[in-house]
Amino acid sequence: MSNIIKEYSNYMVPFYAPEDFIVKKAMGSHVWDSSNKKYIDFTGGIAVTNLGHCNSSLIKVMNDQSKSLWHLSNLYINEPSVTLAKKLCNKTFADKVFFCNSGGESIEAAVKTARKFCSSTINKNKNEIISFSSSFHGRTMMGIALANSKHLIDGFYPLPKGIKNHPYNDEKKLEELFSDKTAAVILELVQWQSGITKANKKFISKIKKLSKKYNALVIIDEVQSGIGRTGTFFAYEQFNITPDILCFAKGIANGFPLGGILTSNKISDSMTPGSHGTTFGGGPIACSIGSKVVDIISKKSFLKNVGKKEMRFCKLLKKIDQKYKCFNEISSAGLWISIELDSSINVDDLIKISHRNGLMILKANPTTVRFSPSLIIENDLIDKGLGLFEKSIQSLL
Ligand SMILES: Cc1ncc(COP(=O)(O)O)c(C=O)c1O
Repeated sequence: MSNIIKEYSNYMVPFYAPEDFIVKKAMGSHVWDSSNKKYIDFTGGIAVTNLGHCNSSLIKVMNDQSKSLWHLSNLYINEPSVTLAKKLCNKTFADKVFFCNSGGESIEAAVKTARKFCSSTINKNKNEIISFSSSFHGRTMMGIALANSKHLIDGFYPLPKGIKNHPYNDEKKLEELFSDKTAAVILELVQWQSGITKANKKFISKIKKLSKKYNALVIIDEVQSGIGRTGTFFAYEQFNITPDILCFAKGIANGFPLGGILTSNKISDSMTPGSHGTTFGGGPIACSIGSKVVDIISKKSFLKNVGKKEMRFCKLLKKIDQKYKCFNEISSAGLWISIELDSSINVDDLIKISHRNGLMILKANPTTVRFSPSLIIENDLIDKGLGLFEKSIQSLL
């Protein structure tokens, strides 16, 4: 075992179970380990490096910004944050942006904003949040309370109060959870924990109807589905629903920590200086990179290509399934693809063997693997990577 691996377990709190190789360098959709072995990356840092590793135009922006201003407290205005906020508002439903550093923090900001708005403008007891099964909203206390899954919450009681959880994509009996105390509904339009699963039309129209009837806000968690991942800049553009608050993070600065919420003037007016904040959120380097990411990914031609690459993945995956008949389901939303395997293949073994064969892939759950490659992955790397995936499957059957 290499020294670093030994030292990792000596010195790091074991919240993770990383693979047994050390990544030294990455470029585009390729990664190299410390023995110079090359991998094709179908993970994209879990839907983060949407423009590939070490993207040269983002490196330039980061280097340029690093020569003038790294950090400034939020007691002063930094120009890159205003530029990025304006771009995000111009491209979406939003009038206002709040920046933080991660997805979990964006959820926290969204729930606080919803509660503050409802309690200060409608009724002071209007604070309940409705969330859904199989969701993932991060690992903060609020995030795990919203997801309400045993594997996330065991050992962490007491949880924040005022949350009601309902089965995803099930509009029946949903109204029983609503009342005048409902402040907001929070949902992902595309979930990944049980394999890529899209919110269905009936479910969405019921959420819209009930939110209107009970004067509740709709919070859409686009931490993973946003920034081009599903083939539109944000997924909500495809689902006939406009959020009151949208959470984003992951791909916005291509791996430099940045997240935030988008919302309307009406809602943001209820937030006052001091009611929320962060030291690092919206820093000048992160926001400069974010601006460049938005410029590139929001182009129609860029987003159209995401759909084309999705079709290429799905077509080739179907061919693999026709040959080996070991997939229960292939699901996708842009370049976010899951494959549920039948009982002939163990997911952990498949991931191990794929790594051995030079392909990085992700687990979604005990029966499902997931791909979230960079959105600029070349067609020949999709073909090569799926060739390695097929080789890995073949060796397990
Ligand atoms: C949908 C969703 N929400 C929230 C989060 C939490 O984001 P972070 O890990 O940046 O806190 C994640 C992370 O995977 C996510 O997928």
